[in-house]
Amino acid sequence: MIRYCQLTTFVIGSIFFSANTFSQTKNISPAGSRMISSDIFGLFFEDINYAADGGLYAELVQNRSFEYSPTDNKQWQALSFWEYITPGFSYGSLQIETNTPVHPNNPHYAVLNSEHVGTVPQQNNGQPLPSSITTGRPGVGIKNPGFGNIITKKGERFHVAFFAKQLSVQPVDLFVSLQDPKGNILAEQKLTIDKKEWNKYTATLSVTAGHDSTQVVLLATSKGKIALDVISVFPEHTFKNRPNGLRADLAQLLADMKPSFIRFPGGCLVHGDGLGNMYRWKTTIGPIEQRTEQKNIWGYHQTVGLGYYEYFQFCEDIGAKPLPVLPAAVSCQNSGGTWRIGGTGQRAIPLEEMQEYIQEVLDLIEWANGPVTSTWGAKRAAAGHPAPFNLQYVGIGNEDKITPEFEQRFTMINNAVKAKYPNIILVGTSGPFHSGEDFEKGWAVANQLKVDVIDEHYYVQPEWLISNQYRYDKYNRNASKVYLGEYASWGNKLYNAIAEGLYMTGLERNGDVVSMASYAPLLAKDQFTQWKTDMIFFSNSTYYLTPNYYVQKLFSTNAGDHYVDKVIVKNNADSLQAGSCVYDSKTGDIILKLVNAGKQARQFQLNLAAFKKTASVATVTQLSGDADAENSFRSANAVAPVTSTINVSKKFNYESPAMSLTVIRIKTK
Ligand code: AHR
Repeated sequence: MIRYCQLTTFVIGSIFFSANTFSQTKNISPAGSRMISSDIFGLFFEDINYAADGGLYAELVQNRSFEYSPTDNKQWQALSFWEYITPGFSYGSLQIETNTPVHPNNPHYAVLNSEHVGTVPQQNNGQPLPSSITTGRPGVGIKNPGFGNIITKKGERFHVAFFAKQLSVQPVDLFVSLQDPKGNILAEQKLTIDKKEWNKYTATLSVTAGHDSTQVVLLATSKGKIALDVISVFPEHTFKNRPNGLRADLAQLLADMKPSFIRFPGGCLVHGDGLGNMYRWKTTIGPIEQRTEQKNIWGYHQTVGLGYYEYFQFCEDIGAKPLPVLPAAVSCQNSGGTWRIGGTGQRAIPLEEMQEYIQEVLDLIEWANGPVTSTWGAKRAAAGHPAPFNLQYVGIGNEDKITPEFEQRFTMINNAVKAKYPNIILVGTSGPFHSGEDFEKGWAVANQLKVDVIDEHYYVQPEWLISNQYRYDKYNRNASKVYLGEYASWGNKLYNAIAEGLYMTGLERNGDVVSMASYAPLLAKDQFTQWKTDMIFFSNSTYYLTPNYYVQKLFSTNAGDHYVDKVIVKNNADSLQAGSCVYDSKTGDIILKLVNAGKQARQFQLNLAAFKKTASVATVTQLSGDADAENSFRSANAVAPVTSTINVSKKFNYESPAMSLTVIRIKTK
């Protein structure tokens, strides 16, 4: 195969090396080092496992726009997750209408007719009634339990926003509240719906007593008819307090990893279940009430409240480069459930519509990088970001079947992007497996078009990672670079994570050809998980980190921009032992990663002769334990790294314990 060659020389590609890197590396002898990608370890984000809606996206109301439908999930319809309530023997009606929506992209809305507002009885025949009857206010309304449950604490504040219009002659009093399941009011504010056109109403609720099953309630307490839509409740504190923002604790976990890039919005979500379900970036920007919601290929619903603007903003907030992946104008090959009889399979945008589609791709680059005077740059500025986002990477396609239809469309998009934006680094795709027909064909397309970077995906057993740790040593240095866009071993035990760490030393060693890598999937919500092995598991109140997370974080927070050979001496015949040495020219630190995937301790010899000055004390961070150890909600810290210091010299030995990843950081400045 053309792609493979012996690793004899290193050709420095134009893609990821900065011109002044050598001038910053006075501490190492150039003979013993080579530049590697400084973007190597990033994150893959996909709205799978309720990672976005109900997860990272901090919106608390489920089905806020009444756009749920049986297309999302056979059990769902526009009023799913909303309950019609009439406390105090009130009565009226609730229905869904589509005649005059807030925006045509958001067609469904609720019409609430409050015909009679009763009273909350305190007694029955002189006998006190249970508090479940006597609490709360009378009225006609709707309530929403959120995504599973909404957890509130005393003193917390929540921002409420919704669209409403007065349909009756008279205005309608509406109490917006947070309540416990018995109807006790935890926080509330009264508003009057008195505009005959759609109007945005807002309130801030301060919780006087918290509850783990808080519900959002909108209750009309006077007679009249109103329309309601896009009912949204956010905690006051989101990540960096961004409006329409992200759940602070989960976003912080991702920020803590210091990823060099974030790939979004997927995964299979990108190419979608049929042409109509592709993720089209333009429908995910602008005011949330104007975005086009749609089914999520993973069996639920996408509000796209976490849309392109929010993804780019998050990348900027944590110093990660954005890597948006756009469909290659073909849908997922599994569309319609191809594995079952009757699936539609891959579908392609008709050729006569391709110019329009290509323009959509080009417009993204203008939206991200264009001046405020450009058509799309102006839209970015209007959303609150006049400065460019400095987009460098664009992915086209997600592990598509490499058919003639794909190839034709990918070629058209690739050529158009490179013609207009030659500096954009375009990432192509090579199918869903590490080898096989699509992989070969995907690479053939990449070789023919000289695609900058090609995205490989594989989910494998840990033993595969161990036996294939030298995979990239054999890659052609003169061909496309590799983005290992999705990979994981099947499991979240320590052994899985250590096998991944062992493989990652091979990615670093080949950081001149592997320009980027990201473990997948990233986030998984407890009880709502479609993909079994993930990096972070969370509930509405908490999370736990897998050993795989720790391994990823140990690599991403200890990356370098040079690989230094011959520092680590080990038994090369032992496949369970691996190591890598990188140098970070920004900090001047030498970083050693030593992996032992076996059941006995293993010896490493370290030789720092390539470095002029080295500190005598080093920081050691180590993840180790039983091969089967794993974390869980009950035992969140069963496996976690431990940090200490050791004395080091120009030559020293290190014994790495069984089943461990050890990161040794040594200062040279
Ligand atoms: O990461 C989960 C899924 O695995 C992705 O959506 C898809 O690209 C791959 O098959």
